[in-house]
Amino acid sequence: GHEEEVGEEYLFKIVLVGDSAVGKSNLLSRFARNEFDTNSKATIGVEFQTQVVEIDGKEVKAQIWDTAGQERFRAVTSAYYRGAVGALIVYDISRRTTFDSVKRWLDELSTHCDTTMGRMLVGNKCDLENIREVSVEEGKSLAEAEGLFFMETSALDATNVQTAFEIVIREIY
Ligand code: GTP
Ligand code: MG
Repeated sequence: GHEEEVGEEYLFKIVLVGDSAVGKSNLLSRFARNEFDTNSKATIGVEFQTQVVEIDGKEVKAQIWDTAGQERFRAVTSAYYRGAVGALIVYDISRRTTFDSVKRWLDELSTHCDTTMGRMLVGNKCDLENIREVSVEEGKSLAEAEGLFFMETSALDATNVQTAFEIVIREIY
């Protein structure tokens, strides 16, 4: 019985976007396997992981797609975004340039995806408070202006990682 209950209608595709080295792959590995890699290499092409999440007592399958932030390593853009109903737009709170790129990632999302998709702005590496370049307030107000959820996370110490993914999944569920 268990298998059948998890039907196609509960398979949600979520994409990760953001500049290179903001921590997209580590957010995914922290969420899906509770793993963190200090020496992780830049992603080449596309990877994805399927994770079952319980929402309101129902099992929801989230298929989370991760690609390279670096242009030259990126996959075919249209295929990456096809069918996505949720997105995490990630920047690194210790590198302002990655925050400045958020607008560009939002443009790309709106070109390829439905406007009704659940979108979360994620300021990752909040463990790096001592070298912070983007304040919480800046993140919050950009999210408000663009109509996004907002959360600061740390893939390193696991702060808010589960919550960030779950809010997006809950929004589209
Ligand atoms: P691309 O695949 O090139 O797009 O990069 P990415 O966004 O997938 O970044 P990745 O997850 O590979 O992480 C880049 C570097 O940042 C690695 O050295 C990670 O160990 C480190 N990192 C990721 N998340 C965190 C975090 O929350 N805190 C700290 N301090 N370091 C992190
Ligand atoms: Mg990566």
